[in-house]
Amino acid sequence: MTPYKIAVIGGTGPQGKGLAYRFATSGHTVVIGSRSDERAQDTAADIARRAGENASVSGTDNSTAAQSADVVVLAVPYQGHAELVASLAGQLASKVLISCVNPLGFDKRGPYGLDVADGSAAEEARRLAPEARLAGAFHHLSAVNLWSEAEFLDHEDVLVCGDDE
Ligand SMILES: NC(=O)c1ccc[n+]([C@@H]2O[C@H](COP(=O)([O-])OP(=O)(O)OC[C@H]3O[C@@H](n4cnc5c(N)ncnc54)[C@H](OP(=O)(O)O)[C@@H]3O)[C@@H](O)[C@H]2O)c1
Repeated sequence: MTPYKIAVIGGTGPQGKGLAYRFATSGHTVVIGSRSDERAQDTAADIARRAGENASVSGTDNSTAAQSADVVVLAVPYQGHAELVASLAGQLASKVLISCVNPLGFDKRGPYGLDVADGSAAEEARRLAPEARLAGAFHHLSAVNLWSEAEFLDHEDVLVCGDDE
């Protein structure tokens, strides 16, 4: 396996934290990104405690995290997604960018899908960060399972969608 340096933007939330934990326990170097340095460092410390002494996990602001990594994972809510991706376009150029963002609205009955003019959140990200090499993946993995004690999530399938080999 090639070890990558993976930044998880929005890595303080349950989905980003769960993915980061799995990347760290698989031997990748992980950088948690947040709008707050402090939140990122606290989350990184939490993941590192859980992932064991060989894990490499740190935390910093979203921009520094994206700049420092080979692979960037977007794990933020759809609300605010466009502004965030546009603000990081420079740091994302030439990086592999993986989006697990589900465009969802929420009402009294729970979550519902939103129409996205670009087709999907990943395609919106590709428009806003055109020099990134984009893929969509991990959309349906449960944050609870990702953060669980289970060593392998081999009951899960991951759909990966993109047009860059
Ligand atoms: N939760 C799940 O089980 C699950 C499963 C599959 C896919 N997903 C998808 O994964 C993504 C993240 O899910 P989540 O449940 O982890 O979300 P979340 O907790 O609502 O948000 C994740 C992080 O995004 C940052 N954030 C929030 N609003 C933002 C804004 N307007 N601009 C920039 N950053 C913002 C926050 O980090 P800071 O405040 O530290 O910056 C937050 O901790 C979503 O698109 C969701 O659809 C979630």
